[in-house]
Amino acid sequence: PRITYHQPQGSQQTIELDEPAPLMQTALRNGVPGIVGECGGQAMCATCHVYVREDYLDQLPEKSEDEEEMLEEVASPFDERRSRLGCQITIGEDLEEIEVDVPESQV
Ligand code: FES
Repeated sequence: PRITYHQPQGSQQTIELDEPAPLMQTALRNGVPGIVGECGGQAMCATCHVYVREDYLDQLPEKSEDEEEMLEEVASPFDERRSRLGCQITIGEDLEEIEVDVPESQV
């Protein structure tokens, strides 16, 4: 499994995973800037907001009701198709590889 995080300024970071892990927790563990994860992954804070790149959209799991609700609270512009909560997508389980754009701001 592999996750690539693209920063708003254009830099990027690819993390290879040994086992399935959520996007949010992987970012925190590897010091990827711009993803906060204040609630610890409970779909209760919206500070793990990411924009999923087009190529991966059709492989994503459906949004839960909790995720839909929290996505209304995101600090950066909401994108109906691409906005997701990083704590609700597990790479290596839901899909093997993903690329996401980190938003300008989470608060
Ligand atoms: Fe709080 Fe994802 S970490 S909603």
